[in-house]
Amino acid sequence: AARPRIVALPGDGIGPEVVASALQVLHAVGDFAVVEHPVGAAAIDRTGQPLPPDTLAACAAADAVLLGAVGTGHQPADPEAPRPEQGVLELRAALGLYANLRPVRALPALAAASPLKPERTKGVDLIVVRELTGGLYFGRRARTADDAYDTCTYTVTEIERVTRVACELASRTGRRARVTSVDKANVLDTSRLWRETVTRVVAREYPHVALDHLLVDTAAMRLVTDPASFDVVLTENMFGDILSDETAAITGSLGLLPSASLPGAPDPDGGIRGGLFEPVHGSAPDIAGRGQASPLGTVLSVALMLRHGLGRPAAADAVEAAVERALDAGLRTPDLGGSATTDDTTRAVLAAL
Ligand code: NAD
Ligand code: IPM
Ligand code: MN
Repeated sequence: AARPRIVALPGDGIGPEVVASALQVLHAVGDFAVVEHPVGAAAIDRTGQPLPPDTLAACAAADAVLLGAVGTGHQPADPEAPRPEQGVLELRAALGLYANLRPVRALPALAAASPLKPERTKGVDLIVVRELTGGLYFGRRARTADDAYDTCTYTVTEIERVTRVACELASRTGRRARVTSVDKANVLDTSRLWRETVTRVVAREYPHVALDHLLVDTAAMRLVTDPASFDVVLTENMFGDILSDETAAITGSLGLLPSASLPGAPDPDGGIRGGLFEPVHGSAPDIAGRGQASPLGTVLSVALMLRHGLGRPAAADAVEAAVERALDAGLRTPDLGGSATTDDTTRAVLAAL
């Protein structure tokens, strides 16, 4: 079989550091053709655009895309100037990646690294399914000198398709067939449409799935007071962005969280082409260039790429097991209270493989 073609987009800040580490892990589990392209501020510097046409064309033709992070951490003085973050948003939209999977598992080795009590995080194994190409991120917007607006729009079709992804995942072996849909239906029309649509899709197509609804403020509280009660959390774009960073409190660090952005439900038997795999965290300008960043969120994103993008579940399991063994052996970067470097982490994972 031909070698899978991977596009790596290192991006900005710690992006190149964590992508270099994750690519070493990828090359250790198989034969892949990897090409790098610029995105974000790195691409603006070179071409004036956060997602140059060559980068987009390469991503569209690839079997999977691995992204580090984009962003400088500050807003340009000129409101008209291109912004690095537009690069990743345009990429998600252009590739139709409406389903963002953000799995969260509390590893026993890291129980003490979480600010939450160990009895609360014990056994947590949830997945946030975040709608990724609608809502406030892509609505009509405008700005004048003295006012601004962003609009939140959802169509029934957009809600139905991401609901199906959440239900497919909840129905898989190892999951609990439970979906918690998160909205703000007490205030927002988009949320009322969301709740009605999710309810209808589950009743008609997934009657075996136990569905409940939470308002987003309550969900934010419950994620840290009773995270073990969640199986699949289904939510719209902005709420999913915020709640998924909050889950860092469960695992112990934002640096550990991976994600998969897909154009549909992952196929249990094979690959979906064109997925984008990226850590949940950003470019971390506060620690960039020091070799201190945890690459594990990106390494675990490679595992998701192997499983959901390339149809190589055994290699995905091997990467995840190697990460766990390295953590079991005491590997800790500064975000987890230790002093291991990015390179130490790469070496420990490769050794465990
Ligand atoms: P951030 O996620 O970059 O950092 C938040 C905190 O977490 C920082 O203290 C950082 O040092 C720490 N952190 C993040 N990743 C880490 C890692 N791998 N190892 C150790 N510590 C880590 O969020 P921010 O500072 O609010 O945003 C910085 C920039 O990143 C902004 O420009 C933002 O738009 C961008 N951003 C990009 C993405 C993406 O490309 N997908 C995601 C989130 C934020
Ligand atoms: C994420 C990031 C992005 C988002 C930004 C960089 C556009 O925070 O992937 O979580 O908000 O989706
Ligand atoms: Mn985010």
